[in-house]
Amino acid sequence: MGFLKIYACILILSLSHLSYAETDLYAVSADITTLYRSARAVISDNQALINDASKGDKGLSAEAVVEKTLENYRKAVNHDLDMTTNTDAKEALLQSVSEVMEEAQDLINEPDKGFKGFLPAIFARQVATKFSQKMEGKMQIKLTAPKDYVRNRANRPDKWESNVIESMFRDTSYEKGKPYAEQSALKGKNAYRYILPEYYGPSCLGCHGEPKGSLDITGGKKEGGVLGELGGAISLIIFN
Ligand code: HEC
Repeated sequence: MGFLKIYACILILSLSHLSYAETDLYAVSADITTLYRSARAVISDNQALINDASKGDKGLSAEAVVEKTLENYRKAVNHDLDMTTNTDAKEALLQSVSEVMEEAQDLINEPDKGFKGFLPAIFARQVATKFSQKMEGKMQIKLTAPKDYVRNRANRPDKWESNVIESMFRDTSYEKGKPYAEQSALKGKNAYRYILPEYYGPSCLGCHGEPKGSLDITGGKKEGGVLGELGGAISLIIFN
């Protein structure tokens, strides 16, 4: 009897540990993707300034953008970024934001030039590339979109992402804004996968809206998207 009791205890302990680990990974994923979106929002919020031909220095130094990222993060979750947990990933992300902005200074501060092609999605891709390099083997982040909406091949969804996008996110009965996550093997490694849907807002449609196939300000073809439609997704992989 005593033996069985101990056995049951061990079983319960290990089960609760398992569910704790999954909850933890979900929380980490929500945190890192929120930080990533907070950074991208700095670029969207300052798009008009970035495109302003009448201004030279835009005041969007690496330091300023990191600071605004942390402010956006605070507004999103109602507390400061906690650097004591998942420090590696948070440092890697902020460092990536900083490097991308340092490299973009000449471009965004060029006087007498309006549209410079420095867009939220481009910034997001550059940050994602640096972040995934810094976290090599541990974490990867990516801004992707439904397969038929992808403009830059580098942003194409992989099989797992495409499957979630098509079978869940594009299903009209799927709860709006709800991330989807599961443990799933990737290239022979154990991976926790998390993906967050994003929708077209009014500010997106000038480039991603109708009429489909007509050219936007960047010279790209518009997707024919409509307000509130699924336009993209942020995907995070944690190898574990
Ligand atoms: C000024 C035009 C413009 C606006 C406004 C714009 N986008 Fe984009 N978007 C682009 C371009 C150009 C790309 C391709 C970027 C690249 O080459 O990496 C892109 C890429 C993307 C991607 C990555 C997948 C892909 O197609 O390569 C997503 C997701 C996306 N946009 C969503 C949005 C959303 C959501 C909004 C509004 C909040 C928005 N965009 C606003 C022009 C725009």
